[in-house]
Amino acid sequence: MIVGRKAYFLFIIIFILAALVGCSPQGTEKIESGKDITMFVATDIHYLDKKLSDYGEAFEVYAASGDGKQINYVEEIVDAFSRDIKKAKPDILIISGDLTNNGEKENHLMLAKKLTNIEKTGTRVFVIPGNHDIQNPWARGFKGSNQYKVGTVDKDDFYKIYNKFGYDEAISMDESTLSYLAAPSEDVWLLMLDTNQYEYNEFIGMPATNGIIRSETLEWIRQCSELAKANNAQIITVMHHNLMDHSDLLSEGYTLDNSKEAIETLKSSGMNLVLSGHIHIQDIQINNEGVSPIYDISTSALSIYPQQYGVLKFLPAEGIKYSTSLVDVEGWAKEKEIGDKNMLNFKAYSKNHFAKASYNKAYDELKKMDGYSEGERKLMAETMSILNTNYFAGTVASVRNDVIHSPGYKLWSDAKPPFFKSYVLSMVADSYRNKTELIIPKQN
Ligand SMILES: [Fe+2]
Repeated sequence: MIVGRKAYFLFIIIFILAALVGCSPQGTEKIESGKDITMFVATDIHYLDKKLSDYGEAFEVYAASGDGKQINYVEEIVDAFSRDIKKAKPDILIISGDLTNNGEKENHLMLAKKLTNIEKTGTRVFVIPGNHDIQNPWARGFKGSNQYKVGTVDKDDFYKIYNKFGYDEAISMDESTLSYLAAPSEDVWLLMLDTNQYEYNEFIGMPATNGIIRSETLEWIRQCSELAKANNAQIITVMHHNLMDHSDLLSEGYTLDNSKEAIETLKSSGMNLVLSGHIHIQDIQINNEGVSPIYDISTSALSIYPQQYGVLKFLPAEGIKYSTSLVDVEGWAKEKEIGDKNMLNFKAYSKNHFAKASYNKAYDELKKMDGYSEGERKLMAETMSILNTNYFAGTVASVRNDVIHSPGYKLWSDAKPPFFKSYVLSMVADSYRNKTELIIPKQN
């Protein structure tokens, strides 16, 4: 304990000395104090490279049984997103986990190549793993009518593959996880947390869904906070799992298992903003208990309609502004002269794909239930479809009024309470404003 404390103070002194001579510990150029900073925030890419699929029968079955991910076009979405980044030239790109479909080594390597190309255009990339990225027993390729097992990565592989994307710039690393602290600017530091529990994956035969911040990591976070305070830097925290509940119904496995403890630690360390993913929906929550609020922005999955990412602006004189932006897949396809009509009309195609999947899920469920006419089933499925597309985009508030006065919604309200009724009502429960924008004014 005493040794740990001595090492910690020694580390602070080394870091302050490094700051005094005007360079970061790795010699990477730091954004000077007082400058505006633009960060793009993407999550849950679930990258699947064309090398691992022939898009045949096995892939079709897999894609159809999924959760609405546009897995058949994920490589194109990433390329279009890279084009957006090259055009907008944000200072920083943050990716908060689930980089790959299911932790396939090949997918990690191919995505890392694309991230290298992004860094060449001047945007610095910072990543952390998600629950699907490491030691995933589901790592698969697709050929003909077969899925075949492919290699996954362990913690060390992940560190090596993504070394250039955060780890080599870390000014501190947590000893027990792949969490790190980076200082890309003098004003804003990034606390990139690995909240996953991949060590259980092999035993349970699947990627563990739940996340946690271990007590050793919480202690390390407190030290990071002291270091940031000593250097007048504000910390933005990034993690795959959600700090707070983003749904009344779906929180188990999405929100950190020790959310209460994590909130207390972050708040008492003076942190007020977390960027997360994992649940795939666009949502913003606030915890107002105690003296200061803390926000958790869950950005929606890049692989799912409406293929959006967060744009976070740090404006020294004003504070922090977050909004969302759509990947311009259509513009990319036109520029590349791609003939695929789905690509050239991607917004409509992706919306229709997700809306149809949502409709079918509700319709199939309603077919199992007695007491509804065909017309009623269609009205209810339509309501589910409208709500779900807006729920994932964070825009339920835009359709709320129309939906709650629709005959389909009335039928859901009067329905017996199986899962789908609860899900439909939960989407409307917290929808008085859209979840795509946030302003955190500068604190004096
Ligand atoms: Fe996830």
